[in-house]
Amino acid sequence: MRLLAVLLPLLLLLRSAEPRRGPRSKVGERGGGRVRGRGRVGVVRRQTQECKEYMEAGEKYLDCQDRQLTTVMQEWPTDIQHLLLARNKIQVLRDNMFSQFTQLKSLDLQQNDISRVEDGAFAGLSKLTTLLLQHNSLRTASEEVLLPLPRLTYLRIYDNPWSCLCPLDSLVRTLQVPSHRNLGNYAKCAEPPSLSGTKLKAVNVDSLCAPDARPEVGGGRPPIKKPIKKKPEALSMCHTYMFPKLLLDCSSKDLNSIPADLPSDIVKMDLSHNGIKHLRPKQFLLSKDLKMLNLSGNNLHDIDTAAFAGLLYLRELDLSNNSLHHFQYGVLEDLYFLRKLSLDDNPWVCDYNIHYLIYWLKHHPGVYYTGLTCAEPREFRGWRVEDYVKTYNGECPKERQTEGTDAGQGPQGGSENEAQEVVGETGEAHGDRLPQHLRKKPKKFEVIRLS
Ligand SMILES: *[C@@H]1O[C@H](CO)[C@@H](O)[C@H](O)[C@H]1NC(C)=O
Ligand SMILES: *[C@@H]1O[C@H](CO)[C@@H](O)[C@H](O)[C@H]1NC(C)=O
Repeated sequence: MRLLAVLLPLLLLLRSAEPRRGPRSKVGERGGGRVRGRGRVGVVRRQTQECKEYMEAGEKYLDCQDRQLTTVMQEWPTDIQHLLLARNKIQVLRDNMFSQFTQLKSLDLQQNDISRVEDGAFAGLSKLTTLLLQHNSLRTASEEVLLPLPRLTYLRIYDNPWSCLCPLDSLVRTLQVPSHRNLGNYAKCAEPPSLSGTKLKAVNVDSLCAPDARPEVGGGRPPIKKPIKKKPEALSMCHTYMFPKLLLDCSSKDLNSIPADLPSDIVKMDLSHNGIKHLRPKQFLLSKDLKMLNLSGNNLHDIDTAAFAGLLYLRELDLSNNSLHHFQYGVLEDLYFLRKLSLDDNPWVCDYNIHYLIYWLKHHPGVYYTGLTCAEPREFRGWRVEDYVKTYNGECPKERQTEGTDAGQGPQGGSENEAQEVVGETGEAHGDRLPQHLRKKPKKFEVIRLS
């Protein structure tokens, strides 16, 4: 009878012992657990470094959860079977960290901040059957850490950012041994991207340490991706978009110069809204596929003669909202296929230096351009640059008086009649791509010229 009186409460306690390992049961447990436990037969509790030590079902528990601990304490009893350390601040599991707890059957380390497990961390735990490491920061570990644990049957390591690269190979192989059914279930790779989300149990182990074990994400990607990868500087600062066109978006990145190592296969490049002051020679030399270059909203003062060298296929160049006064002679010579040139909102200076630009435009009638208005000197402010140039050339002495009030801007300003007059005159069919200065020809000009 006496024996029964002792055994019966113990058996009843068996049922309540199990949930103590689950994280959610702890909150309710902590409040009244100690007091309640005292009233029960066969349960001994005492404080150990603020941890709760108690016995249930004949096994000793040490509950040190939620205590801001970064490691285990020397003072803790060594004869415990279950050590609960969930929700502390442990970061590293050092060699022999638990080796004094030789009787340990379960070790709960979940919800710490563990990022490293040294190979000998679990040395001496030959009786351990349950190891809980979920919700930590582990990226890698080797099978060595499991070698001291011959009895291990439950291992929880999910919700860790596992890096499925070569160093993880031996651990993954161990987890995939068929008899290890409850080791490492649910754990997934966080990287590399090609394996992200793949279960450790399902990773193709032979690929982890293969020489080319870092394949490009999704092998079927177009080869166009590779040159982008090699150019770190521009790529680390700017976004690249693959679709619809290969676009390098460096807009509003506080750039003071053109980024080095521009990818060679970019089709559109947006460098707008930066602080670039100067375009140096050959900075776009390798961007042979570039069709659109946006330099709007910078602080461009100077464009060196060979700045656009190599941009053979550039069709659209946006230089609006800069600080340009004129173009140096020869700057535009590389732009064979340019179709659209935005020059608005620059302080164009109408003196002899501006003539090259007009000359070039005249010889490239296919270029649709906007924004060529004199800002300086004062007497020509607001004039269309083309009109200024005509005046300078002395073709039209009276033009200055009549053209000062001309509000027309851009190629669309001219009427069809005027355009046709010029076509007839030059013998070239320009269509609506006709440069502004050729289309918008004042009647008065014709009269004077004919006389
Ligand atoms: C260039 O960038 C500016 C500012 O982001 C934008 O307003 C403009 O439309 C762009 N130009 C072209 C040709 O896309
Ligand atoms: C011109 O560029 C400046 C500086 O990037 C920007 O703040 C401003 O909004 C731009 N103006 C226009 C009309 O785009």
